[in-house]
Amino acid sequence: METNMETEAFINEIASRLVNYIDSKDQNERVNPALGARSLKRVLDVSVPLEGMGINGVLDDLDTFMANSVKTHRAEFMNPLWGGLSLPALAGEIIASATNNSMYTFELSPIATLIEQTVLKRMCEIVGFPDGFGTLTTGGSNGNMIGMLCAREHSIPGSTKTGFDGSKMVAFVSAESHYSVLMAANVIGIGHQNVIKVRCDENGCMRPESLREEIDFAIKEGLTPFCVVATSGTTVRGAFDPLNDLAEIAHEHDLWFHVDAAWGGTCMFSPTHRALMDGIQKADSICWDAHKMMGLPLICSTFLIKKPQVLRTLCGHANVAHYLFLDDAEYDDLGRYSLQCGRRNDALKLWLEWRVRGDAGWSKMVDQYMDHAAHLESLIGAHPSLELMSSRMWTNVCFRYAPEGTDMDLNELNGELRNRLIQEGMFMVSRSNIGDDVILRPVISNQNVTVGSIDRFVETVLRHGDEILRGLPSKN
Ligand SMILES: Cc1ncc(COP(=O)(O)O)c(C=O)c1O
Repeated sequence: METNMETEAFINEIASRLVNYIDSKDQNERVNPALGARSLKRVLDVSVPLEGMGINGVLDDLDTFMANSVKTHRAEFMNPLWGGLSLPALAGEIIASATNNSMYTFELSPIATLIEQTVLKRMCEIVGFPDGFGTLTTGGSNGNMIGMLCAREHSIPGSTKTGFDGSKMVAFVSAESHYSVLMAANVIGIGHQNVIKVRCDENGCMRPESLREEIDFAIKEGLTPFCVVATSGTTVRGAFDPLNDLAEIAHEHDLWFHVDAAWGGTCMFSPTHRALMDGIQKADSICWDAHKMMGLPLICSTFLIKKPQVLRTLCGHANVAHYLFLDDAEYDDLGRYSLQCGRRNDALKLWLEWRVRGDAGWSKMVDQYMDHAAHLESLIGAHPSLELMSSRMWTNVCFRYAPEGTDMDLNELNGELRNRLIQEGMFMVSRSNIGDDVILRPVISNQNVTVGSIDRFVETVLRHGDEILRGLPSKN
């Protein structure tokens, strides 16, 4: 590193800027930058120079970067399924980068290996996989893909080596599943059209009787079912599929049962809410994102499997890497359970956060988030101009602005309302669809959200809705 500034002074400078950033919780400050894509491109110089500008320029660049980023740690950020910022996890993130170990072998990542094993084993215990193991992945999408690859290997042993004809292999997922199962179908070689979407009930949960019908129908059509993917916490509505019933049907047909618990898995910490995932111990594999409700900075995501040998077989390509994996190694290296080669240490931040909170802290967090979601739900339910658009199982609160007597199209109205929220920059929530209806979908997944910030959010929605109805132009 060029040293026209001493290491300590440099790091202190970064730290003080970071503190300013983290402390910027002023309610009147925007959550998202005011400039749109075109203006941002005009105003900012993000070119890379032919001649380096020296290390001092980094400080200005970082200030510019932070000023023009979405403030995902702010209470007003309730948009995707993650948010907030936790100090132990931030410390873990920094130290993981500084130590820059790669997770493939014990030799190169000794303590990091022990830590990753510890969190994976503990998560397996919580799920109910006493002999289970797993790996940290690049996200729930990747976890779903690995689950489907394990399903393929289970259905056609050896297919990891020999390849297979995927044109007749079918997987069954909830009609409200995350889009990553389509990506997984593409990557594992069955194609999108071989993902069968099973009907859901009025709450967005997969109907077991529909699953049974779809499997029977597929078999009659000469197709080969190999996998059922259930969802615990769907993306839009936060619905939990009935795992006991689905597991039974899947296993009756010897199908792999993978559960996408990327969003909802954290409920398992809470004795009060764990019942949402009753039957999870019957799964063959699950993905569970710590970078969603557990509040860890992206990326921190786990894939857990009941019988680790299947994952090890799937990752058999590692056996040829004699330059990394030694047959007489003292340790079962984690690289033998991963599709990646070089892999960053995402376990450290999770472990640190867990040491600070303990299981009890996670449980309390889940209960508090559910209380916050109930508060938001009750404000919406009590207001004549707001309409809940789905029953609530988790912290997703799906609603729309629907004042009585308006002849405005409600989809246009809510689309415009969401545009105004983004233009004003005081709150960020997702715009989604349920059926043909445009809805707003705030989620509680951010430790900075408070009852007060939820109250302000509802007031802000009502103000914008009222201004649109009165034909007032957007103020921004
Ligand atoms: C239910 C569900 N599964 C999987 C994913 C994908 O997770 P990731 O973004 O970690 O890949 C998401 C993302 O929102 C999700 O909601």
